[in-house]
Amino acid sequence: MKGIILAGGHGTRLYPLTLAVSKQLLPVNDKPMIYYPLSALMLAGIRDILVISTPTDLPQIARLLRDGSHLGLTISYAQQDEPRGLADAFIVGADHIGGDTVALVLGDNIFHGHSFYDILQENVTDVDGCVLFGYPVSDPERYGIGETDAEGRLLSIEEKPERPRSNRAIVGLYLYDNDVIDIAKNLRPSPRGELEITDVNRTYLDRGKARLYDLGRGFAWLDAGTPESILQASQYVQVLEHRQGVRIACVEEIALRMGFIDAEACDRLGAELAASSYGRYVRAVAAEFG
Ligand code: DAU
Repeated sequence: MKGIILAGGHGTRLYPLTLAVSKQLLPVNDKPMIYYPLSALMLAGIRDILVISTPTDLPQIARLLRDGSHLGLTISYAQQDEPRGLADAFIVGADHIGGDTVALVLGDNIFHGHSFYDILQENVTDVDGCVLFGYPVSDPERYGIGETDAEGRLLSIEEKPERPRSNRAIVGLYLYDNDVIDIAKNLRPSPRGELEITDVNRTYLDRGKARLYDLGRGFAWLDAGTPESILQASQYVQVLEHRQGVRIACVEEIALRMGFIDAEACDRLGAELAASSYGRYVRAVAAEFG
């Protein structure tokens, strides 16, 4: 399975924070925001990843993530000149996907939960159609919303409905079979002029090939698109990291635990950052492992 991180857009709801810096590079506690969605792909075992962003932001992101080889990954980059919608990722990324299945994650989405690794492993193999992930929210009119029957079967999907039929938001992590490229290419732009991911998902639903996996209330899903939500995400991460003494979305640690790099390589990465407590944590993890 290939991975795509969609990290474009202008971040207008964060102005002036994003006038000179990509939203996805802003800090969420102790690390850049993009580490969180990158971690999700890594935990799914995905190592071939395309990052899509604006022509101005892409060089900054590439400075951070490089070609990915230090993490045992292959990271490549593609430009999206204008925010044409989330489904545009499958058109921009068509060559990257090739004949494979694909996971799309939004660059401002943060996932954390006890069994996240297991949930991902359970869902990434042999994707036939699409797998969506649902999460209960208090403000469903802000998201793509999935409605299910009593058995959990998906009945409808709506984008930011005025009158939501459920409180089950569809989070910014999506798994698709290879049909997604054709589906995206044949989409018509929505009234707001975008290729909507919700229209892709509805196409799969109409074909009887959309599945909604419920992440449930014991899980944390946050999106960090406003100053308030970035602060909330930072506080969440800070509280857990401080209390437990472990780091959330430490990409070096995940690379080590997933077997993408060895302890020696992990220690070298930590040594480069050793002036920070993050770097010292990476070294400690490497020492414990080695
Ligand atoms: O966060 C989950 C939600 O993400 C889903 O529940 C919705 O169904 C989905 O449409 C999306 O809603 P948003 O209102 O959050 O989408 P937004 O337009 O803000 O785009 C999400 C991120 O993707 C944002 O960080 C910028 C980036 N983006 C967006 C567009 C439209 C791009 O990189 N390129 C784009 O063309």
